[in-house]
Amino acid sequence: MNRCVTAMHFDIFTLFPEAFDGPLRCSIVGRAIDRGLLSVGVHNIRDYASDRHRVCDDYPYGGGAGMVLKPEPVFVAAESVLNWSAADGEPPCPIVLMTPQGRTLTQNLVSELAESPRLALVCGHYEGVDERIREHLVTDEISIGDYVLTGGELPALIILDAVSRWIPGVLGDEDSVQEDSFANGLIEHPHYTRPVAYRDWTVPEVLRSGDHGEIARWRRQQSLLRTQQRRPDLLERISLTREDTKLLDAQT
Ligand SMILES: C[S@@+](CC[C@H](N)C(=O)[O-])C[C@H]1O[C@@H](n2cnc3c(N)ncnc32)[C@H](O)[C@@H]1O
Repeated sequence: MNRCVTAMHFDIFTLFPEAFDGPLRCSIVGRAIDRGLLSVGVHNIRDYASDRHRVCDDYPYGGGAGMVLKPEPVFVAAESVLNWSAADGEPPCPIVLMTPQGRTLTQNLVSELAESPRLALVCGHYEGVDERIREHLVTDEISIGDYVLTGGELPALIILDAVSRWIPGVLGDEDSVQEDSFANGLIEHPHYTRPVAYRDWTVPEVLRSGDHGEIARWRRQQSLLRTQQRRPDLLERISLTREDTKLLDAQT
């Protein structure tokens, strides 16, 4: 997995800045912002529209359903905020378009994005964005999955949330991100906390044994089993050690 920078800045371009108010204030992301590990500029595309009514969308050429986000306000917003011109070539940071047509977000892609100290995220809306934004402004296109949402605001928040976990100091436990599902190609083992017995269900004995070697072995075994049962496609992509194969065979 890649190493992350020490702090990150996000520039988010949206027609609905209010969508970010709550999520950026709470929990781990909110604390990361308070501590200066993460900074976020939420830019209203409408502020960069030049006409009197600040119109940002229009009917699609060729007809059809829905409205399309116009190129001018999106280009002007990104160029002003990034202090750059599309005519100059390479932008100062990756500019990522949220679109169901982009490459699908995975933990590998998240860690790749976390290498950049600054990221710009462009949120589409309505029927999508004018193709010239895709062709001449953005440097990447990311989808959060094979389904269609009303806008790119939730995908942008998902990327911001997932990437911010890679900034050192954002999570209480630095190792956590390396041990999460997908980090080593597997999904994670189960977790338990107190009480030891809840109704008739007890915490596995091994986790209470204090034997760290046994606990690590059990966790690896559970992780392998879960991946085999729920995500066999992941298991096919990694090479198992002889010990891994023994752990799996012992359970099946
Ligand atoms: C209704 S969608 C447009 C879908 C477009 N007509 C298509 O079929 O590809 C409006 C906006 O929501 C965002 N969006 C919707 N689904 C998304 C997804 N799965 N991943 C990322 N962004 C998405 C994009 O910014 C998109 O421009």
